[in-house]
Amino acid sequence: METKKKVFTTAPLPFMGQKRKFLKQFKPALLGYSPTATYVDLFGGSGLLSHTVKAIYPDAHVVYNDFDNYRERLQNIDKTNQLISDLRVILKNYVKDGRILGAIRDQVMERICTEEKTGYVDYITLSSSILFSMKYALSFEQMEKETLYNCIRQSGYDATGYLDGLEVVSQCYKELFAKYKDLPNVVFLVDPPYLSTDAGTYKSYWKLRDYLDVLQVLYGTKYFYFTSNKSSIIELCEWIETKTPMSNPFTGSTTATMNATVNYNASYTDIMLYKNE
Ligand SMILES: C[S@@+](CC[C@H](N)C(=O)[O-])C[C@H]1O[C@@H](n2cnc3c(N)ncnc32)[C@H](O)[C@@H]1O
Repeated sequence: METKKKVFTTAPLPFMGQKRKFLKQFKPALLGYSPTATYVDLFGGSGLLSHTVKAIYPDAHVVYNDFDNYRERLQNIDKTNQLISDLRVILKNYVKDGRILGAIRDQVMERICTEEKTGYVDYITLSSSILFSMKYALSFEQMEKETLYNCIRQSGYDATGYLDGLEVVSQCYKELFAKYKDLPNVVFLVDPPYLSTDAGTYKSYWKLRDYLDVLQVLYGTKYFYFTSNKSSIIELCEWIETKTPMSNPFTGSTTATMNATVNYNASYTDIMLYKNE
């Protein structure tokens, strides 16, 4: 007897920026696309969009670009479950959401240290169990500096079948796009990192130029593109459209920059552009 495949509505392990809340609108929109197309998830992140496409269209060719090596976290899910289960034992008499202090904190850090030396530590998942909501430590050293809280999950994580049927690749979206851009019946899923945010747990920092570069994958292709009103990208494109031919108001100007310090660990760059004609 064939067992029914589990369809995930959320990424199996925590992932910042996953499109969980968009699935409700993504799924019906997808029905307007071909069930046998090639879907290329250029900014795959947790793979949730790829997984959803494959669940809805089992005959589609779905390419998940795992730029962050999320699959390594999935492959080590048993070790993560064991680590969290051991922490649960250490914290069994501890008040929920309470600060973890003293000898108990030492025991928690010791258990993580052992895992760090002999096994595998998924710091993102661990962070969601022992750090304040939305805080992430990505290494043992960072974790040591944080205040720990007992927000440990009571059940284990499960990713069975999550990546089934997907072609998993890992490369810059530009290379992947180049490979598929001239092939027939291709749909691109385009969900780049947020603009100018310290992209948190992601690998890189995204500037306006990077963000604008991505728009090039949208010309003449079939796509799903995700952004937020914070980026103002749609407003910018509409403005450019109505003002063409457009010239850059800064052409011929000179740029001067100055570092401004906010406090001991935060600074930004002030920019002055000037032109005398
Ligand atoms: C907003 S997230 C995508 C979230 C994803 N749609 C999901 O539901 O989980 C953007 C992803 O793009 C990745 N990324 C950053 N630079 C990239 C690049 N040059 N090529 C491909 N992916 C990149 C980030 O590391 C991050 O995983």
